[in-house]
Amino acid sequence: MPLDIAILVSGRGSNLGAILDAIKAGRLDAKVRAIVSNKDGVGALEIARRFGLEAKVIPSAGLAREEHEKLLFNYLKEFEIDYLVLAGYMRILSPYLLKKYEDERGFYRVVNIHPSLLPAFPGKDAYLDAFQYGVKLSGITIHLVDEDVDHGPILAQESFPRLPGDTIDQFRARGLAIEHVLYPSVLQQLAEQKEHQYASARGKR
Ligand code: GRF
Repeated sequence: MPLDIAILVSGRGSNLGAILDAIKAGRLDAKVRAIVSNKDGVGALEIARRFGLEAKVIPSAGLAREEHEKLLFNYLKEFEIDYLVLAGYMRILSPYLLKKYEDERGFYRVVNIHPSLLPAFPGKDAYLDAFQYGVKLSGITIHLVDEDVDHGPILAQESFPRLPGDTIDQFRARGLAIEHVLYPSVLQQLAEQKEHQYASARGKR
């Protein structure tokens, strides 16, 4: 039983590509029900096309957060999904949209990837912030989203070093390579959880 997901993107789309690659290779048992970008003309749309998937553009420019999320949810509500997956989605989600994905324990079924060891370096360019701070060790965090920015229950973290003489580009590339393995593998864990829950619910009948 695959994990049903919708993926939100805003830019380059390398994490989207990594997730789609993992599905194709059979490393991730997931079904991408929808892909939405809040920006037109971005790399993520081209990546979706390459995999033969339709990606919807719902522009957010000039719209208040909730106004945009109403349009977004109006589209997303057509799809039965287990998780909303943020893959380089550069908008903060408001409680309006989060509450649509609230589970029975009060958590939101929304996953995000952030390129630092949270709670260190939340924000838009965590690679640069960590690099400029002079950290010797940074990392990648995958977490459930809550009402605060880059915050919520941590599902996985993986660290990587800043090596002597690293440029910011080398530092970013080291982290990005980890992102591309970690995100699909955490989603696969969620797929396995779904499978277990389904099997135990069946067992109880
Ligand atoms: C990644 O570094 C991700 O951790 C952060 O935004 C970046 C998105 O990159 N949230 P891409 O669009 O997936 O290539």
